[in-house]
Amino acid sequence: MRTPLVAGNWKMHLTATDGVRFVEELTASIASHVHGTHPELWLFPTALALESVARAAAGSKIRVGAQNIHAADSGAFTGEISAPLVAAAGGRGTLVGHSERRQLFGDTDEGIAAKLRSALAHDLLPVLCVGETLAERESGRAEAVVTGQLTAALDGLPAEVELVIAYEPVWAIGTGRTASSADAQAMHAAIRAHLGQLGQPADTRRILYGGSVKPDNAAELLDQADIDGVLVGGASLDPASFSAIIRAALG
Ligand code: PGA
Repeated sequence: MRTPLVAGNWKMHLTATDGVRFVEELTASIASHVHGTHPELWLFPTALALESVARAAAGSKIRVGAQNIHAADSGAFTGEISAPLVAAAGGRGTLVGHSERRQLFGDTDEGIAAKLRSALAHDLLPVLCVGETLAERESGRAEAVVTGQLTAALDGLPAEVELVIAYEPVWAIGTGRTASSADAQAMHAAIRAHLGQLGQPADTRRILYGGSVKPDNAAELLDQADIDGVLVGGASLDPASFSAIIRAALG
């Protein structure tokens, strides 16, 4: 019922040339075992590489999106990109509220809600990232933080919009430390329940796990009832490890 989704977040890595080569290698390596629309595959390159990567991926089953957008369509916002610019470059989605944006670049709950609505207004699939810090988890507030982020971003949104949630505990990102599959499953179940309370179609919303996903832990995470895919940083930079994770999603 929920098509599994495997996404690569390249962060500030890979040039346009690297990205095109990556798409060629990835499509060759998955050609023999990935058929139809399962799993759904997404790449989130830098803004500079987005158009080249989208062009290279055209006609394949790989979709391409931005890592961040500004909430306005256009304007005097030096250094920013907007949803219409992403769409015009061939992007079909965007990450929204990644923890690096929240922690390092001042993204607020309010700003994230506005970005998410701008993505939807321009037919970009938003991948809303939520997650608690280590201090928040250790003080027993993980679920409250995550559900608070969900409420701030989704409250009042019509049920029929298409969007994806990514649960990424901040302490697991880039640290080699993954949430145990049981802890991840528990949070995903809590997220799903909360989506229902927000009037969202909880049963059909895909909830991805992110944070040090690697070829050797992907299968166990993806096996959990409420984990519908993965958002991969470091291990998405190499076509071989990314395609191993895709194979795990076929499992
Ligand atoms: P990581 O990053 O896989 O390198 O931990 C995940 C992310 O930030 O989306």
